[in-house]
Amino acid sequence: MCGIVGYIGYREAFPIVIKGLQRLEYRGYDSAGIALFDGNQINLAKTKGKVEDLKNKAKEISQKGTIGIGHTRWATHGVPNDVNSHPHYSNSGELVIIHNGIIENYEAIKQELTKRGYTFQSDTDTEVLINLIEEVQKTENVKLGKAVQIALNQVVGAYAIAVFDKKKPDEIVVAKLGSPLAIGIGEGEFFIASDASPFIEFTNNAVYLEDEEMAIIRLGKEIKLRKIKDDSVAYPRILELQMNLEEIEKGGYDHFMLKEIYEQPRAIKDTYRGRLLANQGIIRMAGIDLNMEKFLNANRIIIVACGTSWHAGLVAEYIFEDLARIPVEVEYASEFRYRNPVITDKDVLIAISQSGETADTLAAIKLAKEKGAFVFGVCNVVGSSIARETDAGAYTHAGPEIGVASTKAFTTQITVLTLMALKLAKAKGVFSESRYHEYLTELETIPSKVEKALESNTLIEIIADVYKDSTNCLYLGRGYNFPVALEGALKLKEISYIHAEGYPAAEMKHGPIALIDEHMPVFVIATKKGHYEKVVSNIQEIKSRKGKIIAIVTEGDEQVRDLADHVIEVPETLESLTPLLTTIPLQLLSYHIAVMRNCNVDQPRNLAKSVTVE
Ligand code: M6R
Repeated sequence: MCGIVGYIGYREAFPIVIKGLQRLEYRGYDSAGIALFDGNQINLAKTKGKVEDLKNKAKEISQKGTIGIGHTRWATHGVPNDVNSHPHYSNSGELVIIHNGIIENYEAIKQELTKRGYTFQSDTDTEVLINLIEEVQKTENVKLGKAVQIALNQVVGAYAIAVFDKKKPDEIVVAKLGSPLAIGIGEGEFFIASDASPFIEFTNNAVYLEDEEMAIIRLGKEIKLRKIKDDSVAYPRILELQMNLEEIEKGGYDHFMLKEIYEQPRAIKDTYRGRLLANQGIIRMAGIDLNMEKFLNANRIIIVACGTSWHAGLVAEYIFEDLARIPVEVEYASEFRYRNPVITDKDVLIAISQSGETADTLAAIKLAKEKGAFVFGVCNVVGSSIARETDAGAYTHAGPEIGVASTKAFTTQITVLTLMALKLAKAKGVFSESRYHEYLTELETIPSKVEKALESNTLIEIIADVYKDSTNCLYLGRGYNFPVALEGALKLKEISYIHAEGYPAAEMKHGPIALIDEHMPVFVIATKKGHYEKVVSNIQEIKSRKGKIIAIVTEGDEQVRDLADHVIEVPETLESLTPLLTTIPLQLLSYHIAVMRNCNVDQPRNLAKSVTVE
């Protein structure tokens, strides 16, 4: 959470930093700030609210200067208000910092600094850190880079920071542990950001700092990397970025979420492109090929993830067990890491994460690695922390997902996990040739079937209008579509703030059925393949209690049409692939309901796209 941006070069920094912050606003948006150096003094503006509010606030300061740092915040320590917003000054006013992360031992450091005469304006851990750096500078009589290195050895926590010192106006010092930090390298200019989107139109060359690395970025010089622990030299690995500007813009859609929903046919195709060669009966995945023995000899697969990625993990549990006959356990990363789990070197852990930065998932990976498990990552963001931390992996290739509500990440994660399961099923010999071919061929048809599912958009808008004022909703599914019910409920609650619950349809009678009355909309996934008759019985139980039924059905279904208040059709496919289709109408429903309720679809309250704190 939190986005950081910096610029040092020959252009005016203000527009670059502001635009960069807007691109990173998905990471946190409860306050924003900017500091610019005009050659003489630091000019700083910060405010509660969004980057748009910051633009107004910044009218009060000089916007001149070719050095600048900016921050968009998701509050951890201290409520979102002007004072707690970043950047933060040191007591002398000579140093200024932006920070993404948490300094866990800040209270103890604050007490110590207070004894030495330091005062604090804000409630933040970040203001403590910048004053610690200043104190080190003074007491050790060292330059900024060294002071940052010494100070960071005294803190416990996570950080991506950028620090500027008025006395050294040709450099910015950055450091990383746990939170992402990329440096864009241009001709005579450098960019700093939480991801590459703020500088993609200026340069394709970037260095991603590793954990416990820092860099001194000095104008006219090559960047110098050092290890925070012992100040030894580290060597930058310059990557050529593949991202383009179009991918991070709305492209004519009102919201990123809608754009990303509509991108799914293309995104799914990109996920299997070069991997799925259906007519040759081949699935190519280097990460699996090179580690096949580990998967085949595994006692079990443990999947860890959070939120929507966890739901994709639940779908994967069905897929791996059903197709490849490998036992799977799916865990919330946050629970896994704190419950002393039994892990051995015979376990394979799959970590699923769109951002590749989720703190709990990262911590679960580290724990599993310590215990000797082989760790495989399924990430979207190339070069992300999880992608780097895992032993092997497969990217989803969904392209940047900017809307906070995950959509194309979910379907592309399921696509990758399906490819993996099919490949393992083939290698284990548990699949007949004909079944294997049937799956490969059907998987290739999914993008066009998703397109077909998207054609229900107008109908879904009409249904959304009927239920937009509901206060509660239930989502039901069975088998492969139980996780889709959970995902449908999560989508609705996170962007429209309507309370929603997902349940396995058969669990209704063990409690939730008590909630059903004529005011309760119940979204039921009732596709032909997968416990159809049982779900129909569940629908009847709801109907006899006057619940409103909105059913997702297979094209041509008549039976459920007679029972339900509304039906939305999706094309027919193999049972294990149905989540790729049934999730589409639920995404669109949440989207339209949120728009009709005037909610901020792409930036729902209290949330952030990458959850880089526990
Ligand atoms: O980047 P990750 O996939 O690790 O993120 C996990 C969750 O934070 C994320 O899926 C979250 O639940 C989404 N907002 C759901 O739409």
